[in-house]
Amino acid sequence: MSTKIALVTGANKGIGLETVRQLASQGFHVLLGARSADKGQAAITQLANEGITAEFLPIDVSNSDSIASAVKSVESKFGHLDVLINNAGVNLDAPETSIEQTTAQTYRDTYETNVFGLIETTQAFLPLIQKAPGGRIVNVSSILGSLNFHATPDSPIYDFKGAPAYNTSKSAVNAYTVHLAYALKDTPIKVNTIHPGWVKTDMGGQEAPMEIVDGAKTSVQLATLAADGPTGTYTHDGETLPW
Ligand SMILES: NC(=O)c1ccc[n+]([C@@H]2O[C@H](COP(=O)([O-])OP(=O)(O)OC[C@H]3O[C@@H](n4cnc5c(N)ncnc54)[C@H](OP(=O)(O)O)[C@@H]3O)[C@@H](O)[C@H]2O)c1
Repeated sequence: MSTKIALVTGANKGIGLETVRQLASQGFHVLLGARSADKGQAAITQLANEGITAEFLPIDVSNSDSIASAVKSVESKFGHLDVLINNAGVNLDAPETSIEQTTAQTYRDTYETNVFGLIETTQAFLPLIQKAPGGRIVNVSSILGSLNFHATPDSPIYDFKGAPAYNTSKSAVNAYTVHLAYALKDTPIKVNTIHPGWVKTDMGGQEAPMEIVDGAKTSVQLATLAADGPTGTYTHDGETLPW
């Protein structure tokens, strides 16, 4: 069997870097996507020091030219892509800012990466994913994207309304996942969205209960689904979340 090619975006640190580590350890040839060459190369060096091989791929998901160059590079080197993990994300909501004060610009900037960047990256790589025998697309969302939980007073996140631009961007990621999974339902490609957990990263903060090593597990689970695995799901560590 030939080595599978996986791309993880936003992988120079945090959950993305750990996802690269775990997929590489499982035998994937992993493309470590990062928008900064310095940070991307530093992450590759860090992994190499641990005995793990990965390849740096420059990709800024909010820049169309950068996405197009990344696709060209993968196409010329490999001709296909087995796994795309849309992990890159930002949370630009200032803490303590109410929804009334959150500016349209904050929504625009957040959506540029979390929503439009994810969609453009996915669409640009889709022809290469369709050339793989069984493509897997994993959209890294958040439990904070669950409209059902946000609208349900006894849910675990009912009172977590402090980042409206971020939260609604992840709801949009969930909606896109449902639509793309439907469009590809009669193909071998599986499209799923995940919540990694509340994880100790620069974004999650040090008070988060989960270690990074566990925060990458759900992405890896969905990236390595068997042919009879599900598509169009929203899960965390094997548990289904309500949309
Ligand atoms: N941590 C949590 O508790 C938690 C919970 C739920 C969901 N998530 C989601 O998990 C994913 C990873 O989060 P994390 O906690 O690992 O965050 P993180 O440590 O802040 O890492 C975010 C990564 O995304 C990259 N990135 C941001 N904008 C980008 C762009 N335009 N193009 C390419 N890369 C870009 C960052 O690159 P730079 O270093 O260049 O900024 C960084 O590598 C995100 O989608 C996040 O929303 C995290």
